[in-house]
Amino acid sequence: MTEPIDTIAVIGAGVMGRGIAHLMARGGKQTILYDAAAGMAEKAKMSILAEVDQRIARGKANEAELSACTSNITIVGNLHDLASADLVVEAIIETLEAKTALFRSLETVCSDRCILATNTSSLSVTDIAKVLRKPQRFAGLHFFNPATMMKLVEVVAGPSTESGTTKRLVNLSHDLGRTAVEVRDSPGFLVNRCARPFYGEALKMLEDGVADAATIDACLKLEGGFPLGPFELIDLVGVDIHLNATRAVWNAFGQAPRFTPSPLLEDLVKQGKLGRKTNAGFFAYPREATAPLSKQSCHPDIFLRVASMLANEAAFAFQEGLAPAEGINTALKLGLNFKHGPHDLAKMIGVPAIIDTLERYAKNDSSGRYTICTALAEFADQ
Ligand SMILES: NC(=O)c1ccc[n+]([C@@H]2O[C@H](COP(=O)([O-])OP(=O)(O)OC[C@H]3O[C@@H](n4cnc5c(N)ncnc54)[C@H](O)[C@@H]3O)[C@@H](O)[C@H]2O)c1
Repeated sequence: MTEPIDTIAVIGAGVMGRGIAHLMARGGKQTILYDAAAGMAEKAKMSILAEVDQRIARGKANEAELSACTSNITIVGNLHDLASADLVVEAIIETLEAKTALFRSLETVCSDRCILATNTSSLSVTDIAKVLRKPQRFAGLHFFNPATMMKLVEVVAGPSTESGTTKRLVNLSHDLGRTAVEVRDSPGFLVNRCARPFYGEALKMLEDGVADAATIDACLKLEGGFPLGPFELIDLVGVDIHLNATRAVWNAFGQAPRFTPSPLLEDLVKQGKLGRKTNAGFFAYPREATAPLSKQSCHPDIFLRVASMLANEAAFAFQEGLAPAEGINTALKLGLNFKHGPHDLAKMIGVPAIIDTLERYAKNDSSGRYTICTALAEFADQ
């Protein structure tokens, strides 16, 4: 039996903090919400209640959720008011300086049995842990946006994180109706790293003139069952935000060629075409309807190239011991709403076809982009 987590403090009441607080309160947890900006936590609680109200009106939520959020969320104005927490989830700005300063202060406020967790997407859990007196009770607890909807939580262990800490976080995630995937700390964790080829290989095909963005999106949706194509997704998230995420993983992996940001992204950002938010990105918005594509008219390599690179990257993560094949598969399915995870894709296409595809493209690319992971067959066999 692991010690339960009943009282949770959420620090940072922005996009993620308010979603996490909502999820906790809805799940019956005493939730303490704190933000350094005056009035921000109060505003967040009001917006949570207004959102639940709207969902009740649409028949998507019930009065019990409203009453849980009303009574379980307590706003505090001082870090010392978090002393009773069993867990603190940090969701503040994404800088190492701000996060390490905050966790240093938290160590002086929270009890020794309180777990300290970061929701960082791109910083190293290991680097944050370095400043702590007791890194054994520190971990990453990576929720996806919107936290109330997305089923996946990555539970990230740094080198000093105790197994009791990750176990308690996994149990909490299950209590909240989430699927927890345990992952060893590494840049981009599982989802943000292993998803790179979905975008990167599509961008490379666009650069190479294989097809236009709409056709590549359509073929991947038709043949791979992806809910959105890579170009639609980049436009939705924001070309600038996507480029920053790509650069972060690329730099963290020593600028490995397979993660190189596409010049097409750089060009769009320079032109201010940032996607849906600017009404222009890979597509112009509102988008014009186009005639549907048939499977027969898809270039056979579009799906094969993307799926092969997805399976190959997942095999690298598996080889590095980040998580078992099943965990990587689940993380990508739930974190990106993919119909098939990279392990499913490896089984569907088969290792010989993946090797053949990567070898064919490696002939015209000496950068190492298409280097085949030596653990590919072992990954696929799991
Ligand atoms: N937005 C996403 O899609 C997403 C997804 C997963 C993880 N994340 C991660 O979650 C974290 C928060 O991201 P966000 O998008 O919610 O940011 P945000 O900018 O919407 O909110 C950050 C909040 O933190 C507050 N804050 C800043 N410094 C603080 C401090 N020292 N103490 C207390 N409060 C402070 C700010 O006032 C702000 O309200 C980041 O680490 C980010 O990488 C974001």
